[in-house]
Amino acid sequence: MVRRSWFRICLALIVSCTLLRAVDGQSTRTVWDGVYTEAQAERGRSSYQQACVSCHRDDLRGDNTAPSIVGESFLFLWGDMEVGELSARIQKVMPPERPGSLPAQDYTDIVAFILQKNGFPAGSTDLPTESGAAKILITAKRP
Ligand code: HEC
Repeated sequence: MVRRSWFRICLALIVSCTLLRAVDGQSTRTVWDGVYTEAQAERGRSSYQQACVSCHRDDLRGDNTAPSIVGESFLFLWGDMEVGELSARIQKVMPPERPGSLPAQDYTDIVAFILQKNGFPAGSTDLPTESGAAKILITAKRP
């Protein structure tokens, strides 16, 4: 009798662990999941034109000092990091002469624009400004 209930408890534990795992797996979003909107990237483009284009250029490939933030170089710098980390980093260090000077919304929109320029698809909801909410993996691997 006692043995039987232990068996049940173990079974219940195994089942719930498996379920938790499944839920966790689903919550890992990536940049391929349509994490920003076209409209947001468009707003980002205009903020970028004002605050970033002088160094990172129109094509985002940078100049002699500013690094490229598209393609291989972007993935080299930011692959396997989270979008929230990218946002936070940009807010902290860019533009170099006055870091953090833009409204949080503008920084988030610029990140949407950078994602668009890197070929990641747009979706139906804006990228949120709260950095914790942007637990979205930057990866070259399509799902
Ligand atoms: C005055 C020139 C200049 C302007 C304006 C500028 N950057 Fe930069 N950016 C740089 C330089 C130089 C670096 C490399 C040194 C560094 O990381 O601090 C850099 C690095 C970066 C990086 C890589 C950071 C890292 O740690 O990997 C990103 C992303 C970036 N800039 C985005 C932006 C965005 C977005 C804007 C506009 C809000 C912007 N930059 C404005 C010159 C500039």
